[in-house]
Amino acid sequence: MLLFFVSLFFVLQTGNMTEPHATDIAAELEHVTQHWTPRVVGRVNDQYVKVAKLLGELVWHAHEEEDELFLVVSGRLRIQLEGADDVELGPGQFYVVPKGVRHNPVADEEVQIALIETVTTAHTGDVEVAGTVPLAQQLGDFA
Ligand code: NI
Repeated sequence: MLLFFVSLFFVLQTGNMTEPHATDIAAELEHVTQHWTPRVVGRVNDQYVKVAKLLGELVWHAHEEEDELFLVVSGRLRIQLEGADDVELGPGQFYVVPKGVRHNPVADEEVQIALIETVTTAHTGDVEVAGTVPLAQQLGDFA
């Protein structure tokens, strides 16, 4: 019995420490149940790493001060860009939408992506729509 409590004590102690661990993009995507609802899974300096599932299209918008990286994990993503050709991305490919450029991501079939965005980046940039997901919701249990 004593051994049990001693073990429990150490389990609880180590549970409070941040143990180095790999973040599995595919596993994190399994937690995403709604389309167009990014989930924060990591932070690098002032950038968040997010995962999301997309289907259909979001809304034309721009981020005046921030570039935005889209990396496709599975499926195909078409990013419409104002005044330029669309960019088509397949698995393992990424594109950085430059700051200030109006864009609209379109997924004809479900696409799973990772995103890298500045922590201050608003989901739908300068546009607020019904599908806009507040950052607090994107953060979920990410600390
Ligand atoms: Ni955007």
